[in-house]
Amino acid sequence: MSRSTAATAAVVVAVAVVAAMAMPAAGQGAPSGSPAPPYKNHTVVGADGWFFNATSNTTSGNYSDWAAGETFYLGDYLIFKTDDSSSVVQTSNATAYSLCDAEGPETLIYSPGHGDAASASPRAATIAVPLTVEGANYFFSEAGDGAQCEEGMRFEIKILC
Ligand SMILES: *[C@@H]1O[C@H](CO)[C@@H](O)[C@H](O)[C@H]1NC(C)=O
Ligand SMILES: *[C@@H]1O[C@H](CO)[C@@H](O)[C@H](O)[C@H]1NC(C)=O
Ligand SMILES: *[C@@H]1O[C@H](CO)[C@@H](O)[C@H](O)[C@H]1NC(C)=O
Ligand SMILES: *[C@@H]1O[C@H](CO)[C@@H](O)[C@H](O)[C@H]1NC(C)=O
Ligand SMILES: *[C@@H]1O[C@H](CO)[C@@H](O)[C@H](O)[C@H]1NC(C)=O
Repeated sequence: MSRSTAATAAVVVAVAVVAAMAMPAAGQGAPSGSPAPPYKNHTVVGADGWFFNATSNTTSGNYSDWAAGETFYLGDYLIFKTDDSSSVVQTSNATAYSLCDAEGPETLIYSPGHGDAASASPRAATIAVPLTVEGANYFFSEAGDGAQCEEGMRFEIKILC
């Protein structure tokens, strides 16, 4: 390869690198000068939140359907808009998830008020759960001794790195 060809190739590579670096920000529509945040908040089912109606035994949304439409990365957060009549249990144990069992040592429990399913006047709460473990992660409400989970207050996500 001649000297001038090598130099031209180097310039072409440099231009390609700059273009590649500029692309993510442009793709996300970020204004120039303000870089896109390095993580994303995923608000569970959006405005409908993470609620259980004890009268109708129904959940505020179809969490599995919602999760199927999202892409989760390490460092992102799940935001649960909820109240203290429900809880948020996180586990990577698929068996514990299928049994709605929050007892295991590998589960993390976020509970604004001990998940008192019978609370007459539940208090609003927002729970932010950091996504720190790659692969399958499971979430459910253990409130009502697992009744809310049994009725569909649960979902699975896959966290990418
Ligand atoms: C994510 O939500 C938290 C509050 O729960 C907020 O402080 C933070 O600014 C949000 N980040 C983004 C990127 O929206
Ligand atoms: C809970 O379900 C009952 C029965 O379907 C309904 O009347 C009530 O409005 C619901 N409560 C809330 C907060 O959505
Ligand atoms: C809701 O679930 C509880 C406990 O599983 C049950 O006693 C009750 O009859 C159910 N109510 C409805 C409306 O399905
Ligand atoms: C996973 O959960 C099941 C059921 O709760 C439990 O028997 C098992 O010991 C757990 N596995 C680990 C590795 O903790
Ligand atoms: C969510 O919707 C799917 C179909 O899109 C259905 O198979 C599933 O049973 C629903 N889950 C709940 C908890 O209602």
